[in-house]
Amino acid sequence: MTRNDRLIIALDLPSVDAAEAAVGAIGDAGAFYKIGYQLMPVGGLQLAARLGEAGKKVFLDFKFHDIGATVERGVASVAQLGGDFLTVHAEPDVLNGAVAGRGDDPRLKILAVTVLTSLDQASLARMGIDMALEDLVLKRAEFAAEAGVDGVVASAREARAVKARFGDALAVVTPGVRPAGAGADDQKRVVTPGEAVKAGADYLVVGRPIVAAPDPGARAAAIAAEIEAGIEAARASAAP
Ligand code: C5P
Repeated sequence: MTRNDRLIIALDLPSVDAAEAAVGAIGDAGAFYKIGYQLMPVGGLQLAARLGEAGKKVFLDFKFHDIGATVERGVASVAQLGGDFLTVHAEPDVLNGAVAGRGDDPRLKILAVTVLTSLDQASLARMGIDMALEDLVLKRAEFAAEAGVDGVVASAREARAVKARFGDALAVVTPGVRPAGAGADDQKRVVTPGEAVKAGADYLVVGRPIVAAPDPGARAAAIAAEIEAGIEAARASAAP
């Protein structure tokens, strides 16, 4: 069974019972789980602690966005709970608060959400922002690098530009990944695991293609293997 820490499985499910059933069905193929808004208010925090105790890594997708001092206190509480990744929005005060709140916790990594992938150029214009979307992503990634956070969440398209500019200073976490032959659900721009890795993604977030699969463990293992193959291919093409 291929176990892969680069594959983050989104537990977008209505209850802790449903999430625990999914984790059980995925078994050893699942090493890293994402808990977001849907589970957070209904036992998701306790589930996160249990997953950590069971040796799994946990991504808390809480997208904090508030004044710096409030973010700092919130992140300090998350560090006490235990988690591996936590998202915050990519504004300088928010990022600085998050870094201060994390303190010297060796486990918790902070990820900056640059521009939500549900927004396009027209949505930015409605909000009074006339910068090109990719430039805004890079500007916010720059805030992230300056604040000293660990990475950004970005689509595969943006991953390439972020990696070109910031290299290993920022890890890139990419959603919108679909194995070859799987449906896109409501994702607008989907890439295969191999394409995402080739674009520079360090971690891939995949939800429905795994948790809704007839055999979630086999699907997770197959995607993990695709990620490994993508990394090998990228290494081979970079070799002199
Ligand atoms: O089921 P699916 O693979 O589409 O799940 C992707 C996960 O990544 C969801 O939890 C979604 O909220 C999250 N996400 C996303 N696009 C972003 C940021 C997060 O799809 N830009």
